Amino acid sequence: MIPYDKLDKIPYGGDYNPEQWPEETWQEDMRLFRLAGIDIVTLNVFSWAALQPDETTYDFSKLDKIMELVKENGLKVCMATSTGAHPAWMAKKYPDILRVDFDGRKRKFGGRHNSCPNSPTYHKYAPRLAKKLAERYRDHDNIVAWHISNEFGGECYCENCEKEFRVWLKKKYGTIETLNRAWNTSFWGHTFYEWDEIVVPDMRSEHFDVDRTMFQGISLDYRRFMSDSILACYQMEYDAIKEILPDAAITTNLMGFYKPLDYFKWAKQMDFVSWDNYPANEDSYAKIAMAHDLMRGIGGGAPFALMEQTPSVTNWLPYNALKRPGVMRLWSYQAMAHGADTVMFFQMRRSIGACEKYHGAVIDHAGTEHTRVFREISVLGGELEQIGKRTMGMRTKSDVALIMDWDNWWAIEYSAGPSVELKYLNEFGRYYEALRKMNYNVDIISPEDDLTPYRVVIAPVFYMVKGDCDEKIRSFVKKGGSFVTTFFSGIVQENDLVMPGGYPGSLRDILGIWVEEQDALPKDQYNHFTYKGKTYPAELLCDLLHPETARQIDEDGYHEDFYQGFPVLTKNELGEGSAYYVATASNEAFYKEFLKDVCEEKGVLPVMELPEGVEATSRENDQERIVFLLNHNDTETEIDLPYPCQDLLTNEILAAGKLVLTPKDVRLLQSSLN
Ligand code: GLA
Ligand code: ZN
Repeated sequence: MIPYDKLDKIPYGGDYNPEQWPEETWQEDMRLFRLAGIDIVTLNVFSWAALQPDETTYDFSKLDKIMELVKENGLKVCMATSTGAHPAWMAKKYPDILRVDFDGRKRKFGGRHNSCPNSPTYHKYAPRLAKKLAERYRDHDNIVAWHISNEFGGECYCENCEKEFRVWLKKKYGTIETLNRAWNTSFWGHTFYEWDEIVVPDMRSEHFDVDRTMFQGISLDYRRFMSDSILACYQMEYDAIKEILPDAAITTNLMGFYKPLDYFKWAKQMDFVSWDNYPANEDSYAKIAMAHDLMRGIGGGAPFALMEQTPSVTNWLPYNALKRPGVMRLWSYQAMAHGADTVMFFQMRRSIGACEKYHGAVIDHAGTEHTRVFREISVLGGELEQIGKRTMGMRTKSDVALIMDWDNWWAIEYSAGPSVELKYLNEFGRYYEALRKMNYNVDIISPEDDLTPYRVVIAPVFYMVKGDCDEKIRSFVKKGGSFVTTFFSGIVQENDLVMPGGYPGSLRDILGIWVEEQDALPKDQYNHFTYKGKTYPAELLCDLLHPETARQIDEDGYHEDFYQGFPVLTKNELGEGSAYYVATASNEAFYKEFLKDVCEEKGVLPVMELPEGVEATSRENDQERIVFLLNHNDTETEIDLPYPCQDLLTNEILAAGKLVLTPKDVRLLQSSLN
């Protein structure tokens, strides 16, 4: 949980690197932070080389000074452990800490996020540093949270990883025979007789390229193993801190839909989830919302921390456009609207050298408060002061859940067929975005999560059905829930072995259909179908299916080709609920129409009905419910407020009826629960 007992308002601040500046600058920083309403700094993110100048020496003198400075100035601290980049001397002395890349090249010292997760040196020194920090700063009660490493990620293919992979496999499969069966190694004569015949799957072995493998079984397990290996590194530091500070609130900054790490597993080891929100300029607001909802979802619905966002501009995109006036504020509230209980930036002061010198910051190279960005930051600082604790800890109530699964993501995209255009997140996003744009609250959950709190559960491209998940869905439907899934679902079990006997495998009786074949349509080629009088494109994949107990709910099936007339949408009644199958991909207009019907049938309503570009979510606690209204449009937008409410930011009482939102406007509307 976010450490609410140590906070009296939404923490506002971010990554601060005073070690990059002369001490004269520090006092000026403090003055500027006060002006902007900044009350928290994340310290010590990349200081390993400074804290440990050689193998036996630790030097905390500078950090001590910084800690004194921020304490005197009433700042709270999110204390990082510095292990996101190892010291150069360590790489020179202990090359096992260096990674081997996908092409098999041993890396040299450089960059960051660069340690092999199975390096004995890293395992020894990273938790040791975390422990020393916890020991040294244990009595600093302005430390509200601990931040392990930084944006864990990437992968390694070194010999230590190879050895550990075999250990991981042995633990998972027990015997080599079981492993051979799980990977179907009789294909292409890959049978293994000894564990040490197994090598890492990379460009030297099983891969055509990063995305394409000849053996799904081994590549899929390597992804699982890497995610687990890196998680173990996090865990070592976590345990080291907890040994000294059992009550510490510990996190690491995640990255939204980050493919290499199974964040559902990760979040279980985190006291609270935090993440860094860096949308691309062209991302829709719904896509940004989707990542926030995932970050709330991996934490079981608990509020999360927005650990980083840029106040103005990034440096790493091909075109680093400025956040337009009002957008930083709007996106900060959007994070809160989806469950964030902090608003934090990378970074407080713009550095003068290396690759982030043109990355936005609270304090620009000009070094003063007289910038557009600083003014906008100060305004938001004032507002957050005023909101205080009011929104903190509030939960999002949602009747609709989307099932997301990293194993499924990895397996679909390694699958070699049916289409190179089939990307899990694109398909997942079509469902999420349609619901978001209609302003339904949506939870993103894992297949392991409980389905009973929901009325509608959607699993787009549910290719891999693991364990007893089919049984959970069956019982959810029988008890009255609505389940929706799509083409290319129910194909394989957890080892990526096809469930023989007809698609969609173990979901067949739930959906009441049999899928005989799948046709891949090249980009820009379409079939068509009609739903409730309107004709929509069918694209990407077209399943050729036979209803068994289900009935067709589109009008007359596919319009073209030899499978003309085959059903596109089916509905199966099972017990008290229903299961829908969407046999193809289509456009946003279709998803909106269809999902609205599915929700309405279950009495599920959007937070508010609003014009395009205006987003609404709600969060609540026992006392009150707050609707976040966000105008993502560049123009004034008139909305129809369905009931009277009070605006938290202006204290104005708003009557039901017409309300004009200015471009990028934000309203926090309070309506009591009873
Ligand atoms: C990430 C990192 C930060 C910084 C920013 C720049 O989120 O965690 O250290 O590099 O990106 O956008
Ligand atoms: Zn390695």
